[in-house]
Amino acid sequence: MCGIVGYLGEREAYPVLLKGLKRLEYRGYDSAGMALLNPRGELSIYKTKGKVAGLESFVNGQDMSGSNGIAHTRWATHGEPCTENAHPHASPSGRLALVHNGIIENYATLKNKLQAKGYAFRSSTDTEVLVYLIEYIQQKEHTDLLTAVQLALRVVVGAYAIAVIDREHPDMIVAARKSSPLVVGIGEEEFFLASDATPLVEYTKKMVYLKDEEVAVLQRGKELRIVDLHNIQTTPEIQEVEMDLTQLEKGGFPHFMLKEIFDQPDCISDCMRGRIQPAEMRVFLSAVEEHKERLLQARRYVIIACGTSWHAALIGKQLIEHFCRIPVEVAYASEFRYAEPVIGAEDVVIAISQSGETADTLAAVEQAKRQGAFIYGICNNVGSSIARATHTGSYIHVGPEVGVASTKAFTGQVTVLTLLALTLSREKKTMDDQLFEKIIRELSLIPGKMKQLLTLNESIAALAPIFTYARNFIYLGRGYSYPVALEGALKLKEISYIHAEGYPAAEMKHGPIALIDAEMPVVVIAVRDGLYEKVLSNIQEIKARQGKIIALVTEGDTEVTRLADYCITLPPTLECLEPLIASIPLQLLAYHIAVCKGKNVDQPRNLAKSVTVE
Ligand code: M6R
Repeated sequence: MCGIVGYLGEREAYPVLLKGLKRLEYRGYDSAGMALLNPRGELSIYKTKGKVAGLESFVNGQDMSGSNGIAHTRWATHGEPCTENAHPHASPSGRLALVHNGIIENYATLKNKLQAKGYAFRSSTDTEVLVYLIEYIQQKEHTDLLTAVQLALRVVVGAYAIAVIDREHPDMIVAARKSSPLVVGIGEEEFFLASDATPLVEYTKKMVYLKDEEVAVLQRGKELRIVDLHNIQTTPEIQEVEMDLTQLEKGGFPHFMLKEIFDQPDCISDCMRGRIQPAEMRVFLSAVEEHKERLLQARRYVIIACGTSWHAALIGKQLIEHFCRIPVEVAYASEFRYAEPVIGAEDVVIAISQSGETADTLAAVEQAKRQGAFIYGICNNVGSSIARATHTGSYIHVGPEVGVASTKAFTGQVTVLTLLALTLSREKKTMDDQLFEKIIRELSLIPGKMKQLLTLNESIAALAPIFTYARNFIYLGRGYSYPVALEGALKLKEISYIHAEGYPAAEMKHGPIALIDAEMPVVVIAVRDGLYEKVLSNIQEIKARQGKIIALVTEGDTEVTRLADYCITLPPTLECLEPLIASIPLQLLAYHIAVCKGKNVDQPRNLAKSVTVE
């Protein structure tokens, strides 16, 4: 979690670092800080608890000159969020400053050893131990900064992306990574550094994604040098990264989350572009084309993911099983990695991750790879760790998602899973032509139907204040709508802090029905599908216990509409595509309830966009 930025060149570093921190704030916002080497050769550190805006006010009026600097926005792991624990951390003499994203697992052992040598620590972080260790090595071994960093990292256990600057070497930044992302941007006579490409794209398209245990040496007037921990040099692999800057701004919306909800019709069109050809009744995914045999011969598929991506996985399971008759299991990546999974060369593992950096998903991918499985990634962030760790995959192409609550990534993931299931079904000949054509035709209408749905924004906003009283919510759905209910509940709890549970509607009578009373809002996805009548009975059961029913119904519905307290009417679609439609009003409902409750929807408490720790 945590975001790192660095700059070395001819410009003033401060504005570059500040803007970069704002772009990376989705990675954590417990504290923010910056270290600058000024023209007088002084190393100054500025840091505050809280958000980047707080740092900006804190440094207002201070001398922020310097063309070499590093900065950090924190999601606390070791040590509470406070100024002392904020990064950058200084070495004991104040000569070095270091920023870190990750966890130094053996920090306690290292700290004890350094304390035994007389060092006193100022923070309770694992990171401070690393900067102390680097300076200790510099002094003991009389080494330069690069060697000291390499030697220190050789004894570190854990995950890191770090950047270090040294008062004695003002023209240099040393950066390194293992299991946490780090990108170097190469400009004309200048270098940029960040946890992802978003802070860099406005300065350069040339990016180098560091690999595990690589150390980058950024030096004024020299080419980028990449070495490993034993100083073996490699040639930097420069990639051209294109990103539309307007996608990184709010575009007139009050929050990124609302903008991203409204982005969905375009995102889904982008996601399908070139992949579905309704005129030719063809679906094309290059990954399937290239690895057809391996994908078709699989004994079974296992989908691994976390959070919202796991909900998309549950929909993917239904799609692949229904369309292709291939057995599919879905596992939380965090459980899978420690479960001694029975997995091998006959299996295909699909890893779903918006960020492509989720530590548990990445570790699960590595585990499955070691056991011989073929890995298919479904990611959003191009060039991310998971995208690079997989054998093949399909990007969802929905553009950067900044709001911590995932919205457009979810519908993008479901779209790619639909395309994957359709492509495989074609190859396996498990779906008749008529149904295939019907699904493709309907899929191409989904962006238009999403646009239609977004006109409900105001009526859903009007509904939201009625429910701010609630301390609990229940979300119900069946079949394809069950994961949508889970996702609706997750959206509500993460941004409004209202406890919400998603259930398969028929499960309610096995326990949760005990919770229903006149205070309990129950959101029911009651669209016209094969299970409509069953869901209708569930609604009757809630009604009989005075629960407040908010129903998602299909245009033309009369039966549920008669029973429900509030209805949100959806355009009709095919059952298998319903998640792409029904999830949008639930995103809007969660958003407006959170706004009514005065919550920070883009940066909810305790959360970070990219969970790069276990
Ligand atoms: O980047 P990933 O898709 O791997 O992230 C997984 C979860 O951390 C993420 O979906 C999380 O649950 C979101 N905050 C949900 O809105």
